[in-house]
Amino acid sequence: MPTPTAADRFSFGLWTVGWRAADPFGDATRPALDVVEAVHRLAELGAWGLTFHDDDLFGFEPDARHRDRQIARLREACAATGLTVPMVTTNLFTHPVFKDGGLTSNDRAVRRFALRKVLRNVELAAELGARTFVLWGGRDGSEYDSAKDVRAALDRYREAVDLLCGFVTERGHDLRFAIEPKPNEPRGDILLPTVGHALAFIERLEQPGLVGVNPEVGHEQMAGLNAAHGVAQALWAGKLFHIDLNGQRGIKYDQDLVFGHGDLLNAFALVDLLETAGYDGPRHFDYKPSRTEDGVGVWASASANMRTYLLLRERAAAFRADPEVAEALAVAGVHDLATPTLDPGETAAALLDGGAVEDPGALGGRGYGFVRLHQLAVEHLMGAR
Ligand code: GCO
Ligand code: MN
Ligand code: MN
Repeated sequence: MPTPTAADRFSFGLWTVGWRAADPFGDATRPALDVVEAVHRLAELGAWGLTFHDDDLFGFEPDARHRDRQIARLREACAATGLTVPMVTTNLFTHPVFKDGGLTSNDRAVRRFALRKVLRNVELAAELGARTFVLWGGRDGSEYDSAKDVRAALDRYREAVDLLCGFVTERGHDLRFAIEPKPNEPRGDILLPTVGHALAFIERLEQPGLVGVNPEVGHEQMAGLNAAHGVAQALWAGKLFHIDLNGQRGIKYDQDLVFGHGDLLNAFALVDLLETAGYDGPRHFDYKPSRTEDGVGVWASASANMRTYLLLRERAAAFRADPEVAEALAVAGVHDLATPTLDPGETAAALLDGGAVEDPGALGGRGYGFVRLHQLAVEHLMGAR
């Protein structure tokens, strides 16, 4: 059985293992988890990083003493265990002040309050040596179309992100921002609902180089999309700054299951992609230990995320090394797609005048063997090969 090590760069949100499992229908089923215990347990399990929202560590609007003390306790626990803080993020969703959003609330005073909260937290992220700062606008959206001027909201979002980029540049922080898309929940519709929306938004910023995405597997799947495809496009755009791994079964509320406990085949494809595309960022698990779990179940489920990732990595490597897979990939023409469609220097006019040398009749008769290839993936995933 593979064992996680720091080299695997596995990280967890403090809000994941620390989730007390209150939901809209029921009370919490578990006691609060102290940050020092979280750090020690995660380090023992082989994780490399802990991430957090400001409120996870010291609550909403803490007094200075409590805030400093919590930060000191986190630092000490990290120093004692070797755990790092690779990413920090801001809670702009729990307190009622954010009921209509943070950076895009209709209320200008709320937007100013939210921005100050983020700026303060950016300073903390830099102090702790985090390299990524996640922006998840969970309350930035609407239920009613007439209630939100989406174009104005995007102007305000851009204003905020431009300001944040200017701030880190000015202060010389080695920190990049990663926007996390989600289609809905808690709002009826959230702005920047998918990876594609976020990528298009980033291109309109003042410093697009400082901003990328933090795709969450389950969030793309909540929109009925292929999470591995979304991540591939983020990689293609040079924008995969961070990733939230978890599980989701179909288009419904955000389940935040253990990685692989939803669409396992897509998780296999995703691990294969991350491991072969040279992604060297954190493998961050944003899951929720199910409400049915006690303290033992919390740590077993944390461990399950890492084990599943490592097992999928093994299976994906075996799939790639299998000669029959190599042959099926060749029949399928998968690698041929890397060849440019035109010859070097060939123009559109030359292509047009070149005459019809291709025979659509013959080409239309070609079988690609994709099903055989996929069955080989399934068999590797099942450990049958
Ligand atoms: C969710 C989100 C959050 C974010 C986190 C980072 O659906 O609840 O995924 O967990 O990842 O708030 O800002
Ligand atoms: Mn989620
Ligand atoms: Mn997330």
